[in-house]
Amino acid sequence: MTNHINIQPVSSNDAVSGLAGGIANGIVSGIANGNFAEMEIMPLRFGTLTIKFPFIQAALSGYSDLPMRMISRRFGAEFTISEVLLDQFVVTVSNRKSRLYFAGEEEHPCGVQLMGNEPNLMCRAVERLIDAGFDLVDLNFACPVKKVLSRGRGGWLLNEPDIAIKIIEQISRVISGAVPLTIKLRKGFDDTQLSRNNFFKILDNAVDLGVQGVTVHGRTVKQRYEGTSDWNFIRSVKEYLVEGGNSKLAVVGSGDIFDAETALLRLRESCVDGIALARGAIGNPWIFRNIKSLVCGQGKLKPPNLQEQKDVLKIHFDLTVNLYGESKAPTTMRAFAVHYCKLHPEMAEVRADFVRVKNVNDWNKVLEKWY
Ligand SMILES: Cc1cc2nc3c(=O)[nH]c(=O)nc-3n(C[C@H](O)[C@H](O)[C@H](O)COP(=O)(O)O)c2cc1C
Repeated sequence: MTNHINIQPVSSNDAVSGLAGGIANGIVSGIANGNFAEMEIMPLRFGTLTIKFPFIQAALSGYSDLPMRMISRRFGAEFTISEVLLDQFVVTVSNRKSRLYFAGEEEHPCGVQLMGNEPNLMCRAVERLIDAGFDLVDLNFACPVKKVLSRGRGGWLLNEPDIAIKIIEQISRVISGAVPLTIKLRKGFDDTQLSRNNFFKILDNAVDLGVQGVTVHGRTVKQRYEGTSDWNFIRSVKEYLVEGGNSKLAVVGSGDIFDAETALLRLRESCVDGIALARGAIGNPWIFRNIKSLVCGQGKLKPPNLQEQKDVLKIHFDLTVNLYGESKAPTTMRAFAVHYCKLHPEMAEVRADFVRVKNVNDWNKVLEKWY
């Protein structure tokens, strides 16, 4: 099966395999690369779920499907999260179609992200997702998309802490320790004090209800993707939990991680337990391998050459064909290809060709022309 194709090491300097021994012991120390020399990398723990390498593949709507998660995993991500699923969708999707959205057998541990605003419906969805084999449930109180907000879901719930808390309460009862429960929050709905209070009200209650992790994106919902992610705020969330004696609740920081050095720097400076790789991992799975290389003291890896890029594009395409079928795969892959081609020296021309891809033949032609 295509899923078992091996991705060749980017270079002989490949750090992924070399890391296993060090991290398996719990701590990797001595990053022999400039500023990272004294850094210790601790496993990320969501309750009983231990992720040795704390740089995870974030939830990405329209992207973090099975093929992307598999590719990230092969490049070193040890934990990935599905794109956000709507409660109503989860309870009604047919078994046949659910394979497009649910976890694959070969990708554990894998988290699923759920969104909604009716606790009962969300609970039914959670039961189905646990049955489907996901290893963690993450609740989305962060999405800034207009349609989502107008329906009182996602980031809107930062305005409605009581509803968010009720959702957490009921879902944690349904899960009853079967898998860890985590939440995803933005810094606030906006920059007002009320919004900040709401954030901490949800957080405090999440702690009391036994939630095992929180991912914090350091932008407000109103900001969407403007400005920069506020890592001082993210750090303050970690400090707040530690000072309150709640250091066991894992904090994952999110925002503006586009290269390996920044990932490590943010981990060190903000003292969080994990880092979520989001836009920086779309079309760039090498970012996971680069972090591992720095962690191993093997320095910065060379960017992948064209043959290496082509190999990964092919594997990603094959995984996409496996999941969605040949007719849908070329257009699905366009969204990834326009990011992959950022590593190509003639990016603009390659991108223009990828955008025009309509079928497998077009896809193969672009690959042969440019890679
Ligand atoms: C296209 C896109 C889709 C996203 N989908 C989700 C999602 O489904 N669930 C979620 O919690 N966050 C989602 N996010 C937010 C990211 O997980 C992440 O928090 C955010 O992009 C900040 O990280 P970055 O600046 O490193 O990209 C999405 C972001 C983008 C750009």
